[in-house]
Amino acid sequence: MRTVLQGLRRLGALLLLPIALLLLAPAAHAVQWDAETLTVPADASGSTVTFTESEIKAGRKVFNNSCGECHAGGITKTNQNVGLDPETLALATPPRDSVDALVDYMKDPTSYDGEISIAEFHPSMRSADVFVKMRDLNDEDLRRMAGYILTSPKAQGTQWGGGKIYF
Ligand code: HEC
Repeated sequence: MRTVLQGLRRLGALLLLPIALLLLAPAAHAVQWDAETLTVPADASGSTVTFTESEIKAGRKVFNNSCGECHAGGITKTNQNVGLDPETLALATPPRDSVDALVDYMKDPTSYDGEISIAEFHPSMRSADVFVKMRDLNDEDLRRMAGYILTSPKAQGTQWGGGKIYF
């Protein structure tokens, strides 16, 4: 009887480890909202801005609703070459890898070479009469969406933008 109990106890200890690992694993993958992750370029001059976790969560919600149809996960469904990953944003003309530049894009988007306005084809405040999802957005929404776009690669790594920065 005693050996059976001891055996059971040993078995319990053995089972506990994988169970503990299973429980801890999701926590290890959870987004770490530290100040470094929440701090992104504010404008082209190199100054930075630090968002709060709730601003980013609010930004994600508006982004998924207004932009997710084409940009879920930071990619661009209909033009894989112009994604929302930091590398592609940085190489646009003008560079779009800051809050101000992204907000500017949402107001009046331009072609990747910066030559022409594409507001007619891309959702924007300028074309909110056509793109109804833009109608109820205010400046704060735009700022938070920019924050979400810029913090996502830091929080999600290669998942954001399909890992394009590592190609
Ligand atoms: C109907 C599909 C669609 C929706 C909805 C959409 N986009 Fe886009 N977006 C595109 C396409 C296509 C491009 C590539 C445009 C080009 O060829 O320059 C693009 C490009 C961009 C770029 C430029 C990326 C770069 O690397 O230069 C940004 C920034 C962007 N979108 C932000 C947004 C935001 C923010 C929203 C929501 C408010 C949004 N988009 C909604 C299709 C969409």
